[in-house]
Order: sequence, then structure tokens, then C-alpha cells
Amino acid sequence: MAVVGALIIFISSSLRLFLLWTFARFLHKVWWTPTRIQNMMSLQGIKGPSYRFPHGNTKVISDMRAQSMGKPMEIMHDVFPRIQPHVYSWTQIYGMNFLNWHGSQAQLFVTEPQLIKEILNNREGAYPKMDMEGYAKKLLGEALITNEGEKTAFGSSFLDGKHIFEMVAKLIALTVRNAYNVRLPGISTILKTHDEIEAEKLERGIKASILDLVKKREDRVKNGEVDNLGIDYLGQLVKIAQDPDKNKNISLEQMVDEIKTLYGAGHLTTTNLLAWTVFLLAIHTDWQEKARKEVLQFFGPKSPTSDGIARLKSMNMIINESLRLYPPAHTVTRKVEREVKLGNLNLPANINIFISMLAVHHNPQIWGNDVHHFKPERFAEGVNKATKNNAAAFVPFGMGPRTCVGLNFTINEAKIALSMILQRYNWFCVHNHQIMDLVGSLVIILASSLCLYPLLVLIRFLHKVWWIPIRIQHVVRSQGIKGPSYKFLHGNTKEISNMTRESMASPMDDLSHDIFPRILPHVHSWINIYVNILLLLLNIIFHLIGKTFLNWYGPQAQLVVTEPELIKEILNNRNDAYPKIDLEGYAKKLLGDGLSSTKGEKWVKLRKLANHVFHAESLKSMLPAMISSTEVMLERWRAYEGKEIEVFEEFRLLTSEVISKTAFGSSYLEGKSIFEMLMKLTIIVSRNAQKIRFPGISQFVRSDDDIESEKLEQGIRDCVVNIIKRRQQVKGGGNGSLDSDFLGKLIEANHEIDKNKWISEEDMVDECKTLYFAGHETTTSLLGWTILLLATHKDWQEKARNEVIKLFGQTSINSDGIARLKVINMIIEESLRLYPPVPFIKRKVEKEVKLGKLMLPPHMELYISALALHHDPQIWGEDVHLFRPERFAGGVAAATKDTAVAFLPFGFGPRTCVGLSFAIVEAKIALSMILQSYTFTLSPTYVHSPVQLFMVRPQRGVQVILHSLE
Ligand code: HEM
Repeated sequence: MAVVGALIIFISSSLRLFLLWTFARFLHKVWWTPTRIQNMMSLQGIKGPSYRFPHGNTKVISDMRAQSMGKPMEIMHDVFPRIQPHVYSWTQIYGMNFLNWHGSQAQLFVTEPQLIKEILNNREGAYPKMDMEGYAKKLLGEALITNEGEKTAFGSSFLDGKHIFEMVAKLIALTVRNAYNVRLPGISTILKTHDEIEAEKLERGIKASILDLVKKREDRVKNGEVDNLGIDYLGQLVKIAQDPDKNKNISLEQMVDEIKTLYGAGHLTTTNLLAWTVFLLAIHTDWQEKARKEVLQFFGPKSPTSDGIARLKSMNMIINESLRLYPPAHTVTRKVEREVKLGNLNLPANINIFISMLAVHHNPQIWGNDVHHFKPERFAEGVNKATKNNAAAFVPFGMGPRTCVGLNFTINEAKIALSMILQRYNWFCVHNHQIMDLVGSLVIILASSLCLYPLLVLIRFLHKVWWIPIRIQHVVRSQGIKGPSYKFLHGNTKEISNMTRESMASPMDDLSHDIFPRILPHVHSWINIYVNILLLLLNIIFHLIGKTFLNWYGPQAQLVVTEPELIKEILNNRNDAYPKIDLEGYAKKLLGDGLSSTKGEKWVKLRKLANHVFHAESLKSMLPAMISSTEVMLERWRAYEGKEIEVFEEFRLLTSEVISKTAFGSSYLEGKSIFEMLMKLTIIVSRNAQKIRFPGISQFVRSDDDIESEKLEQGIRDCVVNIIKRRQQVKGGGNGSLDSDFLGKLIEANHEIDKNKWISEEDMVDECKTLYFAGHETTTSLLGWTILLLATHKDWQEKARNEVIKLFGQTSINSDGIARLKVINMIIEESLRLYPPVPFIKRKVEKEVKLGKLMLPPHMELYISALALHHDPQIWGEDVHLFRPERFAGGVAAATKDTAVAFLPFGFGPRTCVGLSFAIVEAKIALSMILQSYTFTLSPTYVHSPVQLFMVRPQRGVQVILHSLE
């Protein structure tokens, strides 16, 4: 009993001793050490909020943060007081370096650059990295904190790592939520919170997924699918883990931690950098423009190259300024393990050091009074100059031996992403929105690019078909411009189709030339509905915006502009403010990227070439070909003397023959299949004009027209290439006479050594296609309508014939005489006014622009209708729908009362039709030669049914009865 009693006494006293010892240790940690450190630092002038048992200052910090984050802030970049309110407030009260308490853990906040440099540059291990605890440890493990992306590092795709990304994201949320919750030592092993249980589950899940990734990699080698583990980060890690040399290899645990770190740090930091930069560029559109200009200058629309990326100076300045204002990692931490000297301070052991990058980057003493402004120009001459050689003043990636290893990777990734965004989009901030909403949505958009690709696609889709239209509609309406409301996806195309179908349902009652309501019924109707009287009066007095209205081609906003002053401004296109629209779908297949649709330097090159071929002097050499082609046509007409002939088809043959001979040195027969295929493609384009197809859809769901148009495009290409090849063979055979025609000039340009003049084979094909198409459809339409007008206005037919006979008699046409055909000129102009072959032209607004008194947002198309202008009684008078060539007797300027753009058959400004003179000369020759040989009257079979099949043309041709003059 005595032994048992002694044992009980021994155990109970040991237990008491143990409890006493534990209590003493506890007190040492939570009372003695903090009090000692606080006193020691205070004696050296380092103050701070007092230590409170057991939470330290975490409760105050949590309250301050809750208050600062309670509501969104205005759009400004003074984010330091918001993100780190305690650091901001205590640096104001206690100075640049101060002490505060995370529970019983002392934290020395350092914001003085000199000390920061000393800490981060230290190579003797005086300031090692802090030990991770709790959630942070679960998140980052023990690994080297590196910074690289997932595909490049793990050679896998987003989908392979999706699971890991998602779990890492959840773990981050838990870490942030618990950052200021203090758990007393040892407690969490006994009492687990819900978050701790969840964090453990996530940690296990991440580990299992990573091991799975590793196993897959090993299996691929085992199965012989690949012959090594790969040179990416994952491959290298697995290789090291398998190394038999104990000094070199790493454990499975280490490998998992390493991979986990990369998944976490590798994308979140870059996501933040990108999100903030996109946000900054949204509100500083001048810098957005500068960056875009630079990107386009280096890459054009092509993919960024590593050379160019290194030379993106403005982009670099922008990224640096973004990192300064919004450093993704706002704090760097170190610890003091044994007493150490920092500057004049003696730091005791067991202190953690916090370096606030936010504080340094937002310090007006370093950056000046404009510290909170976005001013990338401060980095114009590099970081050293910007920080006045104070390297520790700009530390977004840390500094010294532990500088972020992913620095270059991140910067390059950001530059590539930004360049490609800038190439495709411009964007701006909606002013009413508050900063957190916007950044929140940007972060969501960017993060979902990594996590939820389908969501991103949906967001992009909604952005295009809902957000942009609604915003444009709001901006435009707020300036007094009305129009039919935007309907989701289809815009107003259904109404337009219905109106057009109705107006085209039957031929016109009489031979009226009032074709505007028939061809463009929606423009005709809406132009009157959506302009109220008051606005109209103001318009007339002050030339404000004309009868302008907004309508929708699917989700594409189209501003219909009718005010001549505005039209002039648009078509003159100063500073490239109103470029041509980008052709898409079938229209692109028809015209490719040829002269009529291309832009920029390529257009300058092609336009110079075409100007050279079609200028007045060159035209003289084309007269014989035009005359002989007309002779061939008239020869055919002999068979129709006294009978009915359909002239529209005749003119198609004539103009095809003329363009083939003059531009391509060949004959209609050689280009016959091209013309036929172009015609079929034109029909497909017209048939689908009001059908909305969404980008990418045609890759999955292919209609008959898609398949047919692709075949036609390829067919046309093959034929054009054959014609080019044949010409090259002739050229090779020493025939130099063809060199000066259009095809000859194209081939010459294709052989150019000078890059500024060189064009590719694709360019040649597109260019030929454009010329084949534009060179005959338009003039066919002009000739067809003119013959109809002369057949129904015998007096003008007579006047024209008299003029021709007076100038040429029955002899051949010559260039001198052509220039003096005044009556015929008036007739042609009046024909082009009433029946403009091209009824409207379009331009687009790429970036916000001021047009007259209007501010136009980007993503709009501008729709200018020659047909509407030509049929406006306010410009032409009450007889606007009558055929009265005499209105052009004093020239176009007099007819339009000096409003040059009121008469727009050939466009206006730098993109005026390059074939203008060619078409007029061709028409004059054909008309003169017809008038020399025949009188003609309208056949009773003619049905007046003008339609728009790309060009304005008579639906069933023009039938006339020919009477020979011989
Ligand atoms: C009556 C006959 C013609 C009419 C009414 C006509 C009408 C037009 C119009 C309105 C434009 C400007 C489009 C815009 O600004 O968006 C244009 C451009 C053009 N036309 Fe014509 N055209 C005719 C004949 C021709 C002929 C015969 C050729 C070829 C020989 C031709 C080749 C072109 C080309 C290549 C362009 C694009 C010019 C550029 O963007 O720089 N056209 N045409």
C-alpha cells in the first residue's frame, strides 16, 4: 500500500508539475515574450498599438478592415487605406516602421525602403521566410514559392488541372477568411472549426489529384506513349523524385507541395495583374490607345512574337504602373530567428517582419504628390529613374535572392494577353459603376478564363449580343437619336425582312422612279418615324444630325446617317476614325480582302496600283478594247432588229468582256466561269443578307449555302490562279505588251523585292476577284437603267442621239469626242441619281469618336444611303422622282447646290470608286454606239420591278424593241 501511495503521490505531483510547466510555457509565450519584445522595441523608438492578451491587435484589425471594405469606393487608386487600413493608420500614428500583434506573435511592419533592402537582400539567412501555419500551410505547403502558369509548367491542359484549381481557389477563400482569427497553440488539434475540417479535406483532395497527375505522367512513359517524363516543371519534379541519389531526390510530400504552390501562385498573381491593368486601361483610354497603337505597330493583327514583346515600351510602362498601384502580392514576410541588427535597430528573436508593398508603392515621399494617379509615364525611363535609384521603392515581385522566380514568365504572359486583347477589342469603364463592381466582374471574367471556359464563352456572347447593344442604345438615345428598339439576337432584321418581302411582293404599279421605299423600305419608313418635328427644325437651322436614326442588324448597331455634313466627315475619314467595315461570311468569300474591303497600308499599296492602271491617260489605251467589245455586241443585235431584246443580260456580257480584255488581257470566255460563279455567290450573299449568323456557328452547323459558297470560293480561286499562271507563262515567253494592264501590274507587284510594294499570291487572287466583280456588275446596272430611261423618255433619247451624231457622225468613237458628250453625261448622272447601282455604303466606328455634335461609342456601323440622299426632295426639289437630266446641265455642284455628298453614286473621299472614269467612259461608248445604230422603245413585256441583288437592278431584265436607223 505504501508503494501504491507513493506512486499516486509521485504521479499526481508529476501531473501538477507538468501542468505548472505547461502553464509557465503558455505564460512565457503569451505574456513574457510579448512584453519583453514590446519593451525592447519601444526603447529603440519603435512603437505601435499595445499588445492585448490573447488576441493581440487582430480584433482591431478585423474591425478596421470590415469598416474599410464595407462599401465600394469611388474610382480612384488610393487603395492603401482600404486594403491595409491598419498599416495605413498606424504608419500615420507610429511612423514608417511599427510593431503590432497577431495574437501573441510580434509583427514588425517595415515600410522604409532602406530597411526593406537590407532585409530582402540579406544572404546570410538572418531573415528567413516565415513558417507557414494553419490554412496558409495547407495552401502552399513547404514549397519554394514560385510563379508560373499551369500548362507550361505541367504540360497538361486546364481541364486536367481544373479540379486542383478549384480546390486551391476554395482553400484561398478559407485562408483569407481566417487571416485575422487567432487560434491558441494546440487548440486546433483538439477543437476543429468547420473551416479547419473543410481545409483538411481540400488539402487531401489536392494531394490526391496531384498524385493522380504524377501517376498519369509516369504511366505514359511506362506504356511507351512517350519516351521520357518531359521537360516541363512536372516532368523535372518527377524525375528528381525518382532519382536514386539520396542527396538529389525529393520526397513525394515535397513534390506535392511544390506542385500545389505553382497551381496557387502561378495563376492568381497574373490574373490580378491582368484584371487591374484591364481596369486601368478602361478608365484611361488614352493609354489604352497608346498601348494598342504600339501593339498594332509591332504585330498588326498577327500573333505577338517574342522579339516584339520585348520591345513593347508603353505596355511595359503600363504594367509597371499597374503593379505599383495594385501590387498583386501586397505584403512580403520574413522572420527573425535569432537577435539581429537591422539598420540601427536590434531586433530580438521571434519577431515576424512584414513589408507592405502597398505602403511603399503609395508613399508620396517616394513617388510625389501624384502618387495615387495612374501615370505610366513615370516609368518612361525605367524603374531606376522612376524610383530615383531607390530599388526597394518598387518591389511588386520582391527583391534579393527570393525575388519571384516567375517574374519574366508573368510579365510575358501579361504582355501577350494584353496585346491580343488590344488587337481585338477596345473597352471603357461605365462611369456610374463603382470600382469594386467593375473589378469584381473583371476578376470574374479573367478567373473564369482559367476556371470556367464555357462560362467565359457565355459571358462573351452576352457581352456581344446584350451588353454592347444595350449600352450603345442608351448612349445614342441619350443624344436625341431614336430608332426601333434592339431585340435580343435579331435586332430589327425580322422587321426589315418582312418590310422588304412586302415591298417586293409585286412589281411597281407604273414606271415610277420612286424606288427608295421599295428597295430600302425600312430606311424610308424609319427615317420619317424617328425624327420628330422639333429635332427636324433644329436640324434644318443648325445642321445638327439630319434625319439620323439607329437600327439593328442582329446585335450590330447601325446608325443611318443622312446629314450631308456628317456624311462628308465620315467619308473623308480623317485620322482613320471611320474605317471600312470588316467583311464577314459570304460577302468575305465574294470579295476577299481586296481593294474594296482592305484597310491600312495594304489598301494604300493596292490603291496606288489600281490608280495607276485606271487613271485618265491609261484609259485612252483601253478605248479600242471597249469599242471592239461593243461592236461585237451590236453585231449580235442585228438578229433582233424590229424585235424585242433583253438588254440587261447583253450588258452583262459586254461589261464582262470589257473588264476581261482591259484589266486581264483575256476574253470573256476565259473568265466566263469566274463571272458565273461570282454571280451565284452574289445571289447567296443577297439571299442571306438579313439572316443573322453568330460567329463560329457555321463551323458546327453548316447550311447548304455554306457548303455551296465554299465550293464557289474555291472554284473562283482556282480559275483566277489559272489565269495568273497563264499570264506568267506568256510573260516568261517575252511578251511585254501586257505588262501595263491590271493583271500585269499585279504580277509585277508579286515579284517586287521592295516590301512596301510587294503583294502576296492571296492578295493577287482577292484583287482579281474584286475587279472581276466590281468591274462589271455596277456598269451593267448603270447601262440597263439608262436604256430603260431613254426608252421611256424619247425626247432625251433624241437629244442624246443628236449629240452623238454631231460629234462622231457614223464614224468610230474617239477619246476627244467622249470628253465632249455633255447631254449623255447629264443622262448618265440622272440615271445614277435615280438608280444608284450601289444603294448604300458602310463604315464603322472602332473607338469613341465625335461626329458633328454626336459622341459615337465604338462597335457601331455607319450606314450611308446614296439612294436615300438621291431621293430626298429637300435636296433635289419636288420633282425628285422625275427623270430630268437638265438638273445636271450646270454640273454636279450646281445640281446639288454645292452639297457634293448629296450625289454619291461612286462614294466620296479617299475610298471613292477607283473605276469611276473607266465606268463612265465604258457607258458613254456603249450608249453612243447604240444610239448611232438604233432607236428603241420599251417593250410591253417589260415589268418594272427594281430589286437589290447586291446592286440595284431590274429583276426581270430590260426588254426593248430595236429599230435600226439604217
Ligand atoms: C457605274 C459603275 C460603278 C459604280 C456606281 C461604282 C460604285 C462604287 C462605290 C459607291 C464605291 C465606294 C464604296 C465605299 O465607299 O464603301 C466603289 C468603290 C470601288 N469601285 Fe466602283 N463603281 C462602279 C464601277 C467600277 C468599276 C468599273 C470598277 C473597276 C474597274 C470599280 C472598282 C471599284 C473598286 C476597286 C472600289 C474600292 C475602292 C477603294 O476602296 O479604294 N468600280 N465603287
